[in-house]
Amino acid sequence: MLIRDAMTGGGRAAPRNVEFMAYLVDADSAQVMERFTVEQMMPHALVRQGSMDEAIALLGQLDRPPERLVVDISASSMPLSDLARLADACAPSVSVVVIGDRNDVGLFRELLRMGVDDYLSKPLTAELLRRTLGGQAAAEPVQQVRTGKLVACVGARGGVGASTVAVNLAWALANRQQRRVALIDLDPHGGPANVLLGVRSNEGLTDVLKNVNRLDPHYVNRTLVPVGPHLSVLSSEMDFTAGTQPDLMALQRLFGELKKHFHYIIADLPDRAGPVSQCVIEAAQTTVLVSDPSVYGARESARLIRLAENRDVAMPLALVINHTHPEGKAELTVRDFEEAIGRKVSQELPHDNEAAVEAENLGAPIVGGKGPLAQALLALSLDLSGRRAEPAAALTIRLPPLLAHTMQGLSGLWKRLT
Ligand SMILES: Nc1ncnc2c1ncn2[C@@H]1O[C@H](COP(=O)(O)OP(=O)(O)OP(=O)(O)O)[C@@H](O)[C@H]1O
Ligand SMILES: [Mg+2]
Repeated sequence: MLIRDAMTGGGRAAPRNVEFMAYLVDADSAQVMERFTVEQMMPHALVRQGSMDEAIALLGQLDRPPERLVVDISASSMPLSDLARLADACAPSVSVVVIGDRNDVGLFRELLRMGVDDYLSKPLTAELLRRTLGGQAAAEPVQQVRTGKLVACVGARGGVGASTVAVNLAWALANRQQRRVALIDLDPHGGPANVLLGVRSNEGLTDVLKNVNRLDPHYVNRTLVPVGPHLSVLSSEMDFTAGTQPDLMALQRLFGELKKHFHYIIADLPDRAGPVSQCVIEAAQTTVLVSDPSVYGARESARLIRLAENRDVAMPLALVINHTHPEGKAELTVRDFEEAIGRKVSQELPHDNEAAVEAENLGAPIVGGKGPLAQALLALSLDLSGRRAEPAAALTIRLPPLLAHTMQGLSGLWKRLT
């Protein structure tokens, strides 16, 4: 039963703009909550009587997530797994308060560990809601532990497909795993991200870096260009004659703010060197390093891995070998590559010129298709989110062995280059 729906005037369709959303199992609690939202004069409040499943379904339909969410676990037989599903359905920034009928400290601690801001046990009263959800309390959550992940996509050398990987990872996480994703094209003059996603740049990145102090959810929403319900892009296309050096502090603050709103921020680095790349790799929770299967690629990969390993905090690094060119005799095999740099390759991407050109021409990402390159990109996105069920090797695309180098010849070559 609909209790109150301030935005839609009582309609049952998914409302467009919800700032406070509450789903309560029983009519009494829903009524207390409804009175509370009226008393607090909340402009965009949605209070409904319904289950966790209904709350999760509605979250999936909203244009943007609410700022605060109240859910009721009293009818849930597996409250923690229901809340994990809920966490999957809403952005990390959403402040979540859980209502239940158990007065259980163990449960309360578990909920706080999951990033829930507070737990209230029934019966709900106006006073209890005022104390926990009203005024000052709303502005000061008990703790905020859920934030998104920054993923730095960097090429070991130019043209190895770092942007292709960044765009396809972002698209797959958003469209195959329903994560909220922001893709940032850090090439100030515009990399291929917009073309590959079939959108136009709005100079949002330049704008946002100048106004980083004004970053609030509304500003973020206005500035990022949406590509479907879960994916947004931030980029700029400055004039080629304009030399730029983004303010690194502003960049760090931008990441901090975006992490509150998105599960993943995928940063496409235009270059492996320089202050911006270093700043992003420093700030990232994961780096995806893309290389071609060349000796020079292996050498540069080893240098970048050393850079990543020199950080204060250890960071996962996924090494991707991308066959941007048809197989050639002088290429390294994956095994040679691994031996040369002393690290396992996370994913090999097969060569598929047709898929790559078609994606660029149509603005439809490769990973949305069905071929081996799409499969490999999808597997990489599942690895990144820890969702791949099969062992990584099972999905690795195996290419025919390359004959040119014997291991001996290779190690001699490697020694000369390092
Ligand atoms: N597996 C692949 N098979 C065939 N072509 C590919 C593959 N991966 C990428 N490409 C193509 O290689 C070219 C370079 O890709 P991309 O722009 O992603 O590389 P990059 O590393 O970001 O380059 P840059 O150094 O310019 O930033 C593009 O034309 C892209 O379509
Ligand atoms: Mg690029």
